[in-house]
Amino acid sequence: MTTPEDARAVVGDAGGGTTPSRGETLHRFVRTQGFTACLELGFAHGVGSVYIASALEAAGAGALTSVDIPSALNRTPSATSLLARAGLSHRVQLVIDPDSYVWWLRRRLREQLRDGRVEPAYDFVFIDGAHTWDTDALAFALVDRLLKPGGWILFDDLAWLPGDPNVSDVPDDTRSFPHVAEVWELLVLTDPSYDEVRTNGSWGYARKSLSTSPEVRTVVKTDLLIQLRQLARMARHRAREARGG
Ligand SMILES: C[S@@+](CC[C@H](N)C(=O)[O-])C[C@H]1O[C@@H](n2cnc3c(N)ncnc32)[C@H](O)[C@@H]1O
Repeated sequence: MTTPEDARAVVGDAGGGTTPSRGETLHRFVRTQGFTACLELGFAHGVGSVYIASALEAAGAGALTSVDIPSALNRTPSATSLLARAGLSHRVQLVIDPDSYVWWLRRRLREQLRDGRVEPAYDFVFIDGAHTWDTDALAFALVDRLLKPGGWILFDDLAWLPGDPNVSDVPDDTRSFPHVAEVWELLVLTDPSYDEVRTNGSWGYARKSLSTSPEVRTVVKTDLLIQLRQLARMARHRAREARGG
């Protein structure tokens, strides 16, 4: 299985949020960049994993590690079964952490510690898990240490709002703004070690510079409508904050 069409035929509408067109974009990004050491935070049914793994299979090299929590094992279809059906299990290691990928990342940092420095391990990281500030701000900080120079981080769901009180355990006064966008704007865009940043709809891509002191940053924005809606939402939130409400 080596094409996005092959992947689509297997994953169908399994769920988890990665649509066929997003899956195809993911596959082509991995394929054209030639990534070989990939990490996915949040695999759900394994849809994104199949698109990434099929790109690695097309290249004939590379592996994906994908991390989730125990509830992912109860999903139907399961990531294990989708990958087996796709004939791609050999490209993917599915990892279950009992609590959160941030704890798994702590262990990976420990494993990569050499004489007081962290040896980067990944050239592509897809962050598509909790989408909340407390988890994903920390995930970014940890993943940043594990990302090789020239490697890319891709954030899904820049615009996701924790609006439903049942969705997750976040303070009520943080439900009106997108948490991943906060990680993106406050931590990624302000970090000079990322020398190319792109947004495309709800996805944000950031490339870690090959240089230790990058001077130039390339910014690419597509899907203006989504960007404008997001900016308007942020402006409304800030106005509310300024009024003290
Ligand atoms: C949107 S789904 C992932 C979709 C998948 N990346 C794809 O492309 O098909 C989000 C997943 O993240 C997992 N998740 C949420 N918070 C997590 C955490 N703190 N640690 C590990 N996994 C988490 C959820 O269990 C869920 O399966």
